[in-house]
Parts: sequence; C-alpha cells; structure tokens
Amino acid sequence: MHTDTLLRDAGPKRVAIVFNATATPDAAAREELGVDDAEPPQPPSHEADAEVAEVAEIIRGVLEGAGHRAVLVPVDDTLDALPALFVRERIDAVFNFVEAIGGEARREPEMGRLCETLRMPYTGNGPGIMRLALAKDMARRLLESHGVPVARGFAVLDATDLDRAGPEARGLCFPVFVKPARTDASIGIDRHSVCADAAALRARVAHLARHMTGPFLVEEYLPGREINVAIVADPFTGVCVPTEIDFSGYPADIPPIVTYDCKWVPDCPESVARSLPARDRLTPEAYAAVCQVARAAFLALGGTSYGRVDLRFDAAGTPRVIDVNPNCDLHPEAGMAIAAASVGYRHEDLVLTILAGAALKARHVPAPHLVARPRVVGHVAAAH
Ligand SMILES: Nc1ncnc2c1ncn2[C@@H]1O[C@H](COP(=O)(O)OP(=O)(O)O)[C@@H](O)[C@H]1O
Ligand SMILES: [Mg+2]
Repeated sequence: MHTDTLLRDAGPKRVAIVFNATATPDAAAREELGVDDAEPPQPPSHEADAEVAEVAEIIRGVLEGAGHRAVLVPVDDTLDALPALFVRERIDAVFNFVEAIGGEARREPEMGRLCETLRMPYTGNGPGIMRLALAKDMARRLLESHGVPVARGFAVLDATDLDRAGPEARGLCFPVFVKPARTDASIGIDRHSVCADAAALRARVAHLARHMTGPFLVEEYLPGREINVAIVADPFTGVCVPTEIDFSGYPADIPPIVTYDCKWVPDCPESVARSLPARDRLTPEAYAAVCQVARAAFLALGGTSYGRVDLRFDAAGTPRVIDVNPNCDLHPEAGMAIAAASVGYRHEDLVLTILAGAALKARHVPAPHLVARPRVVGHVAAAH
C-alpha cells in the first residue's frame, strides 16, 4: 500500500472538513464563462455549492461515527484564516473538497498548496494534478510524453491561429471537436462543438474566443463509446471501475457528447443520457484496456488519491483520454460512491479510506513509468 496507514492506526483524529461556502461569481466572471451569444449558460456554482455543504455534513457524520472529531470549515474567497484555525482547533488532518475559491475554479489548487506549506496531511489529490485538470492543453502533452493515448489534437488561442496551420496540415481529418482548455463542467460544449468543416471550426473558435480566454483545443472527434473510469480510492493499489455513458435516448440532431445542458439543465433533450456499468457492455480486452489507460493517465499527471478519467474510443477501437478529474463529488449518490459500492465499499468505507490516505508520505509521487510501464494491448498503447 503506497498511502501509509498513519491516520487509520493512530486513533481518533481532529479533522477539518474544508469545502466551498456558497459563492457566486461576479458579473464579469459570469460573462467570461457564458458561451452562447443569445443566452449564456450560468455556471452551476450556486447549486453545486449547496450540494457541497450537504456532502460536508454527511462526511462529518461518517468521521464522527468512526470516533474522529470533525469541524466544518466553509471557505469563500480567502484561505487566510485557516492556519490560525488549524492551530486553535488542534487539527491533525484536512478533508479537502474545495472546488473553487471566490467562485473561481482555477483557484482550486490553493487548498492543497496551503496544506503542503503547513505540513498538514490532507485528503484528495495534490495541487499539481488539480492545476493540470484545468490546463487540458498541458495535460495532454504530458500524457503523450508518457505514452498514454489521448485524442489527437492541438491548441489555438483564437481563429487566426487556424490560418497558420489548420487540422489537415496537422494530420487531422474532419469532423473535429473544439473545447476550451481551461474550464470543466462542460462549459463551452454544445452541439456546435463538433465541426464538420473548416468554416464551422473557424466560427466555433471565434465564438468561444468572444466569451472566454483561450487556449482552445481542436481534437479529432472520437466517434466511439464514452467511458468514465472511477479510481477508488487511489491509483496505486485501488480499483478502477468503468461506466459507460448511454446516449441512446439522445435526439438525432445532437451528437452523442456530454454537453453543458446534459450536465446541468434538467428536462432538456440531452438530460436522458445515463451512466451504466461497463462490465457487461465492453469486451474483457476493452474493459482491461480502459482501466490500464485510465490508471496510467492518472499516475502520469501525479494523482495520488481518488479521481475519474474520461475516455472515448476512436474509430480503430483505441480508448483515448479526453479528461482527468482529480476532485470528484463525494455525495453518496454521485458516481464515485456508486462506483465504490460496486466493488464493495460502503460510502462510510470510502470516506474512511480516503482519510487514511491523507498522509504527507502519499504526496511523494513515484515516477509513473515505474508503476505503469507502457505496453501494447491489441491496437492499444496502454500501460500496466
Ligand atoms: N475529442 C473528443 N471527441 C468526442 N467528444 C469529446 C471529445 N472531447 C470531449 N468530448 C465530449 O465533451 C464532453 C466534455 O469534455 P471534457 O473534455 O470531458 O470536459 P469537461 O472537463 O468539461 O468534462 C465529454 O464528456 C465528451 O462527451
Ligand atoms: Mg469530462
């Protein structure tokens, strides 16, 4: 076991559960996040924050039920008060699921960084992978350099970059997929993200660039199945649990992709997408391949705790990484808990296992190639 068992073995702990206080981005941030000229979608922070408070309360119940002492610490736009609070409350470890600070997702890594500065054990992944998860252009380069298959593609800052070298000049065929590199939550993703030709691509990049800061990724459109691989509860000795997104109820005029509306707008046409266990839907070879690729991707980016990797199959049957999520929702009804339940962890076990991994020793990330040496699986350049 890579994560040490210090916290599990050494008796009751005083744990600070740190999460987002309800924070709504200001008008300028909303403007930046909106992507539709006529009707910018609102970022989901308000609802999501309310749910995060509920998760914090549930986690407190689990920790106290196991004999720990837990303090709820909502954070808003600054972490300045935390060091004194940790001293005052004699905190031994932080249960961190801060997703944004001051309503800004890009400040998500600050909490882990503060814990490292204070030498305070904390749950979840470190600031490095948190930052990379919101810098998809950089993450894909790292993954490629580790031999992990990603969607082929390139980054542009605006539409004029396409004039210097478009998809064909870079060896890509249409259709292509366009997405912002510095956001998540499917912000900037709708049916027009799939571009059939150069004119549509140019229009899409120009549209995104009017509303948010680049870079934007232009990737091969992966036409195959979409798989989410949950990593329960760490990538070293943990279990990979794949689920498939079933788009079968999607309207014919919307491509089978997880749009913003699909994630956040109840009762829209895309809300029929469902997550289904992948075990009976993939061949054993494909199942093993998605697990291997997901684990290798998570390790290559420095993941040390629970997370989720999103992949899609290309036309030749190779699973390619499209997204890495190092700070997943821990609600008992969310995907991580459902995945954990399918491999025998009750929600309480998941929470306590995550706490047990919260030792500083776990942050010393081994070189990924020592853990996940690339090898060939069928068409797939995968990894152990
Ligand atoms: N290269 C691609 N080909 C096909 N669909 C894609 C591609 N990249 C992303 N998507 C679709 O867009 C959705 C959101 O993209 P993703 O990279 O996972 O961003 P987010 O961080 O917003 O979840 C994915 O779930 C998938 O349906
Ligand atoms: Mg995703």
